Amino acid sequence: MNSESTNHSVEIASRQTKVITIASGKGGAGKSLLTLALSQLINDAPVFNSCVIIDLDFHVKGLTLLWYSDLSLLENEKWSIYDLLMREGALPTEWPLVKSSASIVIPSYQRVREPLDYDSISQMSFDHISKGLSTLLTSLDGKADFVLIDTRAGIDSFSLAASLMADLTIIVSEQDRISYRACFDLQSQIMIRAKEQQQRQN
Ligand SMILES: Nc1ncnc2c1ncn2[C@@H]1O[C@H](COP(=O)(O)OP(=O)(O)OP(=O)(O)O)[C@@H](O)[C@H]1O
Ligand SMILES: [Mg+2]
Repeated sequence: MNSESTNHSVEIASRQTKVITIASGKGGAGKSLLTLALSQLINDAPVFNSCVIIDLDFHVKGLTLLWYSDLSLLENEKWSIYDLLMREGALPTEWPLVKSSASIVIPSYQRVREPLDYDSISQMSFDHISKGLSTLLTSLDGKADFVLIDTRAGIDSFSLAASLMADLTIIVSEQDRISYRACFDLQSQIMIRAKEQQQRQN
């Protein structure tokens, strides 16, 4: 993946699949649970066919662990977001997207009983993450009705990249002033990035 920056607004406008990012300023606000609830609503709606969930939280892997209660099933998965971003692994050639009562969940990382290279993850640039996500979203475009991206709490390159690539970002907060403040800071950072991007494109 090269470091050329992605033109997010053009990509969003030309995409058929709707992308929703679920973020929060502070941890434990309910992002992963909300992501699963939203996917269930989409699956239950007769007008929609399919939903893909991306777990972009390598540190907690909350959605991956909620979904794969059987760790051996997770470990047998051939593909994860980690593979895409760290190893530039090839995407699956086909997505088994059919009308069903369950979404496809792309795990953040599947070898959960082995140590993860957190240093490399932390050093990943915003552009690198944007490129990887863009490749994945392009491969899913028109195949899934919705892609939901569950992110890590706080302001980092992952939550910012996923928010800028989305049609809609939902920022989840608990009812306390620290959580509100953290969400406000995240929202401000997203707006700053979006403005910078717009200025680069003009
Ligand atoms: N609406 C809710 N009502 C009650 N409990 C909830 C609700 N949403 C989440 N919880 C509980 O709060 C805890 C955190 O939820 P969840 O893991 O979804 O948050 P998160 O924002 O994804 O956390 P993290 O930042 O660690 O990824 C869980 O124990 C979950 O069961
Ligand atoms: Mg979570």
